[in-house]
Amino acid sequence: MKKVFILAVIFIALTACKKETPAKTETVKKDTAAAACTKPKKEFKMYEMSELAALMEQMYVENEQLKQRILKGEAVGHFPEHLVKIHSAAMTDESDRDAFFNEQAANFIKAQELIYNDPKNAKQHFNDAVTACLNCHEGKCGGPIPRIKKLYIK
Ligand code: HEC
Repeated sequence: MKKVFILAVIFIALTACKKETPAKTETVKKDTAAAACTKPKKEFKMYEMSELAALMEQMYVENEQLKQRILKGEAVGHFPEHLVKIHSAAMTDESDRDAFFNEQAANFIKAQELIYNDPKNAKQHFNDAVTACLNCHEGKCGGPIPRIKKLYIK
């Protein structure tokens, strides 16, 4: 009888303990990503950068490195295959994936491919590809435009 009582107390203590520490759901918002684009973002999607936004940041860095290679007259290397993910990567607001986006994405991939397929004219093709970034951004996401313009090779 005593044992049962002790077990019951332990059980109650354990369950009570569980109730005392409810899982705290921290709501850390990533305001910088939201600030990059003008549209208000849905609350629950603000926790982290979307897959597409992360790809964009990666593309930015890679294009900066590519610019340096072109300026130094180094080999441009191979077309970065992951760029095609622009067609499928999850976005902050999926309603942005419309006909305009798909067309601009295809133009952008073509412009990037030209840099690698015709490296003799890498500088010209690189600048055309930056324009392709901007063409989409002018219709979709104005925030990063000043940053993207800095990529141009003068
Ligand atoms: C087909 C349209 C399209 C093209 C082309 C495009 N972007 Fe974007 N970009 C977007 C959209 C849409 C977002 C917003 C992504 C999101 O929030 O999910 C974005 C976001 C960004 C961001 C902000 C990411 C963040 O931190 O939130 C940067 C920087 C960026 N793009 C740079 C570039 C660069 C550099 C290029 C060209 C090398 C480029 N983009 C080409 C549509 C495009």
